[in-house]
Amino acid sequence: AFVGTVEAPSKVILFGEHAVVEGYGAISMAVDLRTRGKIFESEKDIVINLKDLGRSLTLDIENIPKLDLKNYNSGVKYVLCAIKSIVNYLKDRGYEDFKPFKLDISSDIPISCGLGSSASVVATTIKSFLSTNAISIPKKELCKICFSVEKEVQGRASITDTATVIYNSVLKIKNSNDFEVLKGTKLYKLLKGCHFLVVHVEKRKKKTAELVKEVAEHPRKEEIFRSIGKIVDKVEEVSTWEELGCLMVKNHELLRELGVSTSKIDKVVELGSRYGYGAKLSGAGGGGIVIILTDEDRREELLKSLKELEVLDVFECKVGMKSENQ
Ligand code: PMV
Repeated sequence: AFVGTVEAPSKVILFGEHAVVEGYGAISMAVDLRTRGKIFESEKDIVINLKDLGRSLTLDIENIPKLDLKNYNSGVKYVLCAIKSIVNYLKDRGYEDFKPFKLDISSDIPISCGLGSSASVVATTIKSFLSTNAISIPKKELCKICFSVEKEVQGRASITDTATVIYNSVLKIKNSNDFEVLKGTKLYKLLKGCHFLVVHVEKRKKKTAELVKEVAEHPRKEEIFRSIGKIVDKVEEVSTWEELGCLMVKNHELLRELGVSTSKIDKVVELGSRYGYGAKLSGAGGGGIVIILTDEDRREELLKSLKELEVLDVFECKVGMKSENQ
């Protein structure tokens, strides 16, 4: 029988990527592209159907703490590592006799493009386990567990994806371990009224870690990071969409100087600035996504031009996931 649905949003970096690796601030935002976990009763095992990967996993609850993850590829590994981590976390705190359940996971989020799909899947999996067993833990703890899963599977991770997806809000990222939720602030209120387009422009040619490494070798990185840091400081003071869009374009220019943009991304950013308030590459770059702050009166022209450019996908997004069934 159907028990319930658990969901998690995805994230975009609005300002400050790459510079954040060297200790400058960044602003991230949850967007309404979701991973959904449909929970059903199960007799004995935990059965997880990864709809998008066409894979099904059957787990004997007793064996979960000893699961060996090394023979699994990363899509499946995130889910298994998430289950193993939450079981071990709860066992360490005296919980036992976990309920079996069946979980169907599906996601709107394109993978490997900077939208934090893995963090969203990990959060959905862990929240499903907690919900089935009627256990609630503080968001801060949930964040720590999800982050440790990301780290274990990827080898390297930043708190940005996990925290943004779990808090479903706008966050100031202070460094790779520390963040502040900006709900209720002037910037949050301004962003709440914004209409964004998330454009999946093209597949990424490189992984985040590779791009971070290349940027670390850029001869002018210090100066560029400082300028990005100044933009992030200004963002919290802006009052209008025009100002916000203008800072997005300035941030994009600096990312371009760092060498992480591509000609197709630049074309999309150009269209976003022409028909909207502003646009920028979001995430590590080398392909991936552009976020556009749209002007609703000129949205049709923008969509038409994006279609002509043959981008992979266009999503209309507002801040955060509208409802959370938990
Ligand atoms: O594109 P993503 O989601 O992998 O974001 C990378 C953001 C960087 O600042 C480039 C790296 C980081 O860890 O913050």
